[in-house]
Amino acid sequence: MKILVTGGAGFIGSNFIHYVLANHPEDIIINFDALTYAGNLANLAAVAQNPRYSFFKADITDAAAVSEAVALAPDAIVNFAAETHVDRSIMDSSAFVKTNVLGVQILLEAARQAGNIRFHHISTDEVFGSLLPHDPPFNENTPYAPRSPYSASKAAADLLVRAYFTTYNLPVTISNCSNNYGPYQFPEKLHGLFITNLLENKKVPVYGDGLQIRDWLYATDHCEAIDLILRRGRLGESYCIGGASEKTNLAIAEHLLKLLNLDQSYIQHVADRPGHDRRYALNFDKLKNELGWEPKTSFADGMQKTVAWYKANTDWWQKIKSGEYQEYYKKQYPQK
Ligand code: NAD
Ligand code: DAU
Repeated sequence: MKILVTGGAGFIGSNFIHYVLANHPEDIIINFDALTYAGNLANLAAVAQNPRYSFFKADITDAAAVSEAVALAPDAIVNFAAETHVDRSIMDSSAFVKTNVLGVQILLEAARQAGNIRFHHISTDEVFGSLLPHDPPFNENTPYAPRSPYSASKAAADLLVRAYFTTYNLPVTISNCSNNYGPYQFPEKLHGLFITNLLENKKVPVYGDGLQIRDWLYATDHCEAIDLILRRGRLGESYCIGGASEKTNLAIAEHLLKLLNLDQSYIQHVADRPGHDRRYALNFDKLKNELGWEPKTSFADGMQKTVAWYKANTDWWQKIKSGEYQEYYKKQYPQK
């Protein structure tokens, strides 16, 4: 397959590119990414010279650039490109609406006009809203009830993807995944921020009482699920991808303190996020029954691997925290 991966320089997109290049020796990847603050080509330094990998710097809201990329005749588009951080969407939602809604419409339209391009859209469990402690986990039939500007923009995108299936028969699938952790996570999200703060001997800011629950999945397991859905998923369908690993944010902080031999004084409770969703959990029976997928990485192993990765890659996150990371692109592509 020749796959146009949009948003491939971010956290999950770069893990997906590594996954596909390693597991499908015939596949070709074109990484289409605008390199926003969250995009970092250092995530792909190990494959930059691979003849089956190429990079195309552009924005999914730029219809001409998207048409140019689609003219390279990919068999599939896998769309990771998005504004992804809930706190940023609360501060200013405009980029979220532009990229997450308009950008997806532009990608869908380019795929429709080209004809016969398989389209897989990466979405989130946040489109389903927030659960109470004893509610059953979300599943594919849960009504959409997004509560933040981020999740509202992702929900709008999902509805557009569905509409392109119904109206134009575009061969689409959607996956709604729970919270990911693992290598290359930008240090503004819970794991990336907490681990790097602790490695810098700083406290971790826990929002509110810290008893909010997320269902954690190791990023490589997410990539495996996407890959299966892309190749074997039923067209027009959504698939929930969960980690079977519900943890409170405090439990995550305490687990990290243990792994790093630090005491509770590193936990600092700070003001809560406005409209903070209390709990997410996902039922992934459909994916398990249809495609045989289950998470392979246990929470304990995933946490250990993630901490080990951040310890071994201090240069990667220190450059991000200092703002130096975007220089990589200028060095790698001085002509652009
Ligand atoms: P990220 O913020 O780490 O990376 C996003 C990437 O998209 C960056 O490389 C950025 O440069 C690129 N991008 C942003 N706007 C763009 C634009 N207009 N044109 C082209 N490229 C653009 O995100 P992530 O955490 O890897 O998330 C990837 C996808 O997975 C998103 O769609 C997100 O909604 C979804 N998702 C994330 C999680 C999670 O826990 N991180 C869980 C479920 C679903
Ligand atoms: O559920 C999937 C979603 O997970 C993705 O769609 C989003 O793109 C991704 O950012 C993530 O959203 P969350 O808001 O759940 O992730 P975040 O890492 O920002 O926060 C996880 C939890 O930790 C949440 O309850 C807020 C809390 N938190 C977060 C930060 C950054 C803190 O307590 N302190 C913090 O400093």
